[in-house]
Amino acid sequence: SVLEMEVEQINKGKYDHYMQKEIHEQPESLTTTMRGRLIRGGGSRKPKAVLLGGLKDHLKTIRRSRRIVFIGCGTSYNAALASRPILEELSGPIYREDTAVFVSQSGETADTLLALEYARENGALCVGITNTVGSSIARKTHCGVHINAGAEIGVASTKAYTSQIVVMVMLALAIGSDTISSQTRREAIVDGLLDLPNKVREVLKLDEEMKDLAQLLIDEQSLLVFGRGYNYATALEGALKVKEVSLMHSEGILAGEMKHGPLALVDENLPIAVIATRDACFSKQQSVIQQLHARKGRLIVMCSKGDAASVSSSGSCRAIEVPQVEDCLQPVVNIVPLQLLAYHLTVLRGHNVDQPRNLAKSVTTQ
Ligand code: AGP
Repeated sequence: SVLEMEVEQINKGKYDHYMQKEIHEQPESLTTTMRGRLIRGGGSRKPKAVLLGGLKDHLKTIRRSRRIVFIGCGTSYNAALASRPILEELSGPIYREDTAVFVSQSGETADTLLALEYARENGALCVGITNTVGSSIARKTHCGVHINAGAEIGVASTKAYTSQIVVMVMLALAIGSDTISSQTRREAIVDGLLDLPNKVREVLKLDEEMKDLAQLLIDEQSLLVFGRGYNYATALEGALKVKEVSLMHSEGILAGEMKHGPLALVDENLPIAVIATRDACFSKQQSVIQQLHARKGRLIVMCSKGDAASVSSSGSCRAIEVPQVEDCLQPVVNIVPLQLLAYHLTVLRGHNVDQPRNLAKSVTTQ
């Protein structure tokens, strides 16, 4: 029954903490997010596509919007940022009025709700993307998509983040579904989505490796995370996870900004994570790695399978190899090792994983 399922989710089972359980649950939560929404298709008569029941009567209006604006805080903001490029790519030129998309795990965040009131008053079509059926944002929007990630109890958002990205990629597919020119691209993304839970299962095997890394970083003051393109969001979200639970300073930085300031911080001691998985930004990230090596930076490089030797060839560096997926889905895979790192750092530093000091699961005051 639904109740049994919910109780099951609220129990920690074999895990020590909710955050840990929720990180490891992602192959299943992602499967649930996609259930009944992907058409496997095949051949030209039945193309691979998505079906978002909650939006089907509003898709035309969304497509005709002058702008689509996404609103969210914290992790939900990062999830929107991660999905922005694929939405821009597949939605093409849009016109007339606005569509505002409210992204919120809890559906109760005061700042996001206030923006919703403003958007409604001004006549925008309001779409909700939440994890909480019956929440204020779910009720007050005109239409929406539930991410169905299951109850998330740890204050740090983990499985909701990956499911939010998946829903926004599906939204991009739905908006772009009437464009012939992007059909091949869209079908490749549908295939990527279908295989994504397996890829996340694979990346979760890095758990021990991330625990070892956490052990090395346990006494550090700070961790920088460089990303760009699709994975700028991964840098911000990885840093948010580290700071909010392990209470270590961490900052996500747009790699293109490195020479404009952050480079001054680089020395043999400050740990710097660079996300350099294969996509259109790969060669730019390689040159960032070289410049950091030249300054004897202490690097942790996240790269695609098979690239470890080449990224670490010119200096001291620890490589984390992750499976390569479709570029717009890579943030879902890449955040997982950083979630695990944040988790282990917190446990090793002796802090409360599920309830960091000063924070609440949903921020219902302004
Ligand atoms: C994420 O780990 C944080 N706890 C926080 O930034 C959170 O994502 C933010 O408060 C938004 O919450 P919501 O998704 O429930 O609206």
